[in-house]
Amino acid sequence: MEQIKTYAIIGGSSGIGFATAQQLIARGDRVYIGGRDPARLQGALDRLGPRAMGQVVDTGDRAALADFFAAAPQLVGLFTPAASYQTGAFRDGDPASSEGLFAAKFWGQYWATLAALPALREGAAVVLMSGAASARPIGAPAYAACNAALEGLARGLAIELAPLRVNCLSPGTTDSDLWRNRAEDIRNSAYTAWAGMTVQGRPATVQEQAHAAIFLLDNTHMTGSTLYCDGGYTLR
Ligand SMILES: NC(=O)c1ccc[n+]([C@@H]2O[C@H](COP(=O)([O-])OP(=O)(O)OC[C@H]3O[C@@H](n4cnc5c(N)ncnc54)[C@H](OP(=O)(O)O)[C@@H]3O)[C@@H](O)[C@H]2O)c1
Repeated sequence: MEQIKTYAIIGGSSGIGFATAQQLIARGDRVYIGGRDPARLQGALDRLGPRAMGQVVDTGDRAALADFFAAAPQLVGLFTPAASYQTGAFRDGDPASSEGLFAAKFWGQYWATLAALPALREGAAVVLMSGAASARPIGAPAYAACNAALEGLARGLAIELAPLRVNCLSPGTTDSDLWRNRAEDIRNSAYTAWAGMTVQGRPATVQEQAHAAIFLLDNTHMTGSTLYCDGGYTLR
């Protein structure tokens, strides 16, 4: 009998991470999800049902990451879409949108991957999360650099951690909770601007991003790659 597979998703209580958890459960797998807010995490676990487990974790806290993975079952995959950050202009000289951004998005995923290693089974895969601004910035240069750094990290880890596979998902604007929690006028103007910059003429859905993440988790010949699920944004 085939063993049930468990995937850890840090950032699985919302948006792209939650949609990925839903798709993995729908095909018969289990998920172990993490996020900072206990109520949001419990709400997600309730919606996901008995094949989901979870624990509160903040990727900015290395001790909490160690506890999170010490409590994890053996894992066949790790996906790390957790991040909460600000972006801004270079000339602002603002530590929050430069060093703080890297702390939240780059170093969070870096330390999460290291903490996960003891729980990852032979043949496992890691999917990091960047963003298409890495390849086509529209300002916010620290944000472009942070996403490019994550794509470089996936390539470096794919070498050092082989045969573990490490890839990066680089989404464009996606109609996720991240945007739905913002004011409607801000969201609508961002979506309209985005539509004009892509080939597909619309933001992605969280289901489309989840599908891309699962492809990278599953495909046993993919490693060190970045997948741009961006509706053609980086082509224009
Ligand atoms: N949506 C887009 O348009 C878009 C475009 C390009 C790239 N991305 C990237 O995709 C990723 C996810 O985006 P999303 O739209 O799915 O966002 P989201 O709906 O806001 O979900 C983020 C998830 O991460 C968790 N999280 C945030 N900071 C965390 C931390 N320090 N430690 C642990 N968990 C944390 C959140 O829960 P808590 O708040 O409770 O911790 C939540 O579960 C981000 O890295 C983002 O940069 C998104």
